[in-house]
Amino acid sequence: MAHRPLACVILAAGKGTRMKSDLPKVLHRVAGRPMVGHVLAAVKTLDPDHVVVVVGPGMDSVAAAVAPYPTAVQHEQRGTADAVRAAFGLLEGFTGDVIVLYGDTPLVTPDTLRALVQARRQASDPAVVVLGMRPDDPGAYGRLILNARGGLEKIVEYLDASEEERAVTLCNAGLMAFDGARMFDLIGSVGNDNAKSEYYLTDVVQIARRAGMACAVVEAAPAEVVGVNSRAELAEVEKLLQRRLRKAAMDNGATLIDPDSTFLSVDTRLGRDVVVGPGCFFGAGVTVGDRVEIKPYCHLEGVRIDSGAVIGPYARLRPGAEIGPDVHIGNFVEVKNAVIEAGAKANHLTYIGDARVGAKANIGAGTITCNYDGFTKSRTDIGAGAFIGSNSALVAPVVIGDGAIVGAGSVVTMTVEADALAVARGSQKLYAGWAKRFRERKQNEKAKKA
Ligand code: UD1
Ligand code: MG
Repeated sequence: MAHRPLACVILAAGKGTRMKSDLPKVLHRVAGRPMVGHVLAAVKTLDPDHVVVVVGPGMDSVAAAVAPYPTAVQHEQRGTADAVRAAFGLLEGFTGDVIVLYGDTPLVTPDTLRALVQARRQASDPAVVVLGMRPDDPGAYGRLILNARGGLEKIVEYLDASEEERAVTLCNAGLMAFDGARMFDLIGSVGNDNAKSEYYLTDVVQIARRAGMACAVVEAAPAEVVGVNSRAELAEVEKLLQRRLRKAAMDNGATLIDPDSTFLSVDTRLGRDVVVGPGCFFGAGVTVGDRVEIKPYCHLEGVRIDSGAVIGPYARLRPGAEIGPDVHIGNFVEVKNAVIEAGAKANHLTYIGDARVGAKANIGAGTITCNYDGFTKSRTDIGAGAFIGSNSALVAPVVIGDGAIVGAGSVVTMTVEADALAVARGSQKLYAGWAKRFRERKQNEKAKKA
């Protein structure tokens, strides 16, 4: 079959007043990614020939977030049909299929978008295909009015609907597919004679029907087309997406002991036989190899963990941490921008930043890499098999050679040669009987006063 071109128009000009935010609505994040980024990711799977994002005036941050896709500016918010018209300049002469999506409806799946395009290309050649849904509470959604043959006859906005029309449970989810060859004329003839004096995109259905063109509906699960207008709806969408991501992680062979308290990002990758304890948070950019155990209450972001490692409980792995195979990172250990090589251990209360820890090295409890002097960050390099005694401060830049031992409580400021022992602390002094004499003197003083 010849390639039929596809264009996608994403509407994102809405101010999002109800978010009460300085950030444009579509840049609010769900599972670590801006809402409009989710829509773009779904759209990308269709490999479209054109994508246009319609933004409001001054929404440079949205333009930057969607680049390299172009944006068209809708100068005044005059309704959804007017918003699509803003994209016309960038689509001039386009005659393939056009999908219109909303930037604030981030959960739509590639499958649903494909179904929409397929329905548009069916034999009856509908001018418009509308995505419908049957939510538990149809509320103020536009209602889809079907004819006796099951074809779509018109969409009525809630404010303009009669009692009888409001009783219809099939609602407009907002997404539509158009035949590009007919779209420009259809949307061009939408007027604004309605309750809100807006140019409603939904009017195209009635306009197409009056011209004798077919229109159709594809139904989607309501959970896929929840729109975000408020922070509460943002949280609702987050919850739905978390559910989806957790299920995908489990389907891929990871155990989530308590899925409900495991927070994932869209790009979290968990290997096979990974076990994640309750209360773990995966920020953006986390990749976990096979057979890794992540014990409860860990916070991870921008980190790669290789197979067989054991992390936590209560570990914090920050961007740039690379945890090698079979490494142990224990409780209250923070790692940032550091490579921990195979089999190394840092089991308790440690900060490792801007460092390399060689294979099988052992980092004692309370060890700190002092990487920052208030102006610059410096590196600590710890060799393979080195042993760092508890409560040591390694003042970077500093090198600890392979197999070296650092005595507990040391403040290390100079290179420690391979296989050397470094002890950098006050040496111990002993005063025999001193404590006993001290106690007796104090007791005598107390007795004299009484
Ligand atoms: C719209 C539909 C309604 C449907 C509902 C689903 C119309 C007329 N109504 O109503 O049938 O049930 O979505 O959620 O289409 N936008 C612009 N410029 C504008 C107006 C809107 O870019 O001038 C964008 C918004 O940013 C948003 C989307 O279009 O992403 C939808 O606009 P919104 O005002 O939320 O439409 P609804 O009233 O919810
Ligand atoms: Mg809306």
